[in-house]
Amino acid sequence: MPMSTTYFLALETSCDETAAAVFTEEPRILANVVASQTELHQRFGGVVPEVAARAHLQRLLPVIDQALREAQISLTQIGCLAVHHTPGLVGALLVGVSAAKMLALALEVPLIGVNHVEGHIYACQLAADHPIFPCVGLVVSGGHTTLYECAGPLQFTRLGATLDDAAGEAFDKVASLLGLGFPGGPAVEREASQGNPRAHAFPRSFLHEARLDFSFSGLKTAVLYALAGPNQPRPAPPPPGPQRADLAASFQQAVVDILVAKCRQALQRTGWRRLAVGGGVAANRVLRTALETMAHAEKADLFIPPLHLCTDNAAMAALAVEKWRQQLWAPLDLDAVPTLS
Ligand code: KG4
Ligand code: ZN
Repeated sequence: MPMSTTYFLALETSCDETAAAVFTEEPRILANVVASQTELHQRFGGVVPEVAARAHLQRLLPVIDQALREAQISLTQIGCLAVHHTPGLVGALLVGVSAAKMLALALEVPLIGVNHVEGHIYACQLAADHPIFPCVGLVVSGGHTTLYECAGPLQFTRLGATLDDAAGEAFDKVASLLGLGFPGGPAVEREASQGNPRAHAFPRSFLHEARLDFSFSGLKTAVLYALAGPNQPRPAPPPPGPQRADLAASFQQAVVDILVAKCRQALQRTGWRRLAVGGGVAANRVLRTALETMAHAEKADLFIPPLHLCTDNAAMAALAVEKWRQQLWAPLDLDAVPTLS
């Protein structure tokens, strides 16, 4: 490593993963440590904000320590602090933002605030061997389903977003309805592999409309009605078997069809031939295959990072390197901002 390289320490505490990463200004990832809180939230069937914030407080310093050890550098060698400061759970974000500010102040180094959703797109760049920009970007996670026109790494324009549930949230809620546990995405995907994706004709909102927005709450309700009919009390989850597998497969297919159709429309509208997809739902194999088929037909390059860079992590905050080059430092009163403006 050349002596002049700047080492970045990045922190992620926006939801239920406590994460720290160390990278260089190339950027080259030297360590990417994630402490998942899944086991803490499992019994509640979803992320409990107060539990998440307290767990970040307990785990952040050991996670930073481990990242520095893996990168084989000392804290005093860090030349810049980066932190996801928006969007997310405010109490959770505050833990990372406060720690990053404190470390930047103590080390007398610049602080850079990174948008977590933009970071999910940038994760595609980390895994690619050539530039991904300009591209259409899709972020599909537990908190977001948003399409962007990404002219460059710091030029994101929103093309559309979900009007209600995020795609991952819909996976989690349907998993709960089907008694498949939390987090729901991987559980629904496993169940769906045994079922018929055409067993139920679930709704696909906005599929034939020009708008690039999404809506998944009607789909979730359609799964509920398929189980119990309208105006009934919440039904007990179905037993394991073909009925449950068919519901999972038909639900998953509806989500995949919607996401693929909107990405195709976005590629056609922007005229760009690159599609970058990030966020936890991008781990879904049926979605990945369908996106590959569509991108091939549209003569577009598809970028989806490997699993550990799809789900929440701190390496994706390497977008900070792009800000570093332009000296876009954050002030020490950088705020944790729960929602995107
Ligand atoms: O990006 P992420 O780790 O955290 C957020 O920023 O939300 O995404 C988590 C979401 C959860 O809703 C989870 O159920 C979903 O991603 N997910 C999946 C899969 N793996 C994770 N959804 C569908 N299929 C999967 N294999
Ligand atoms: Zn995320």
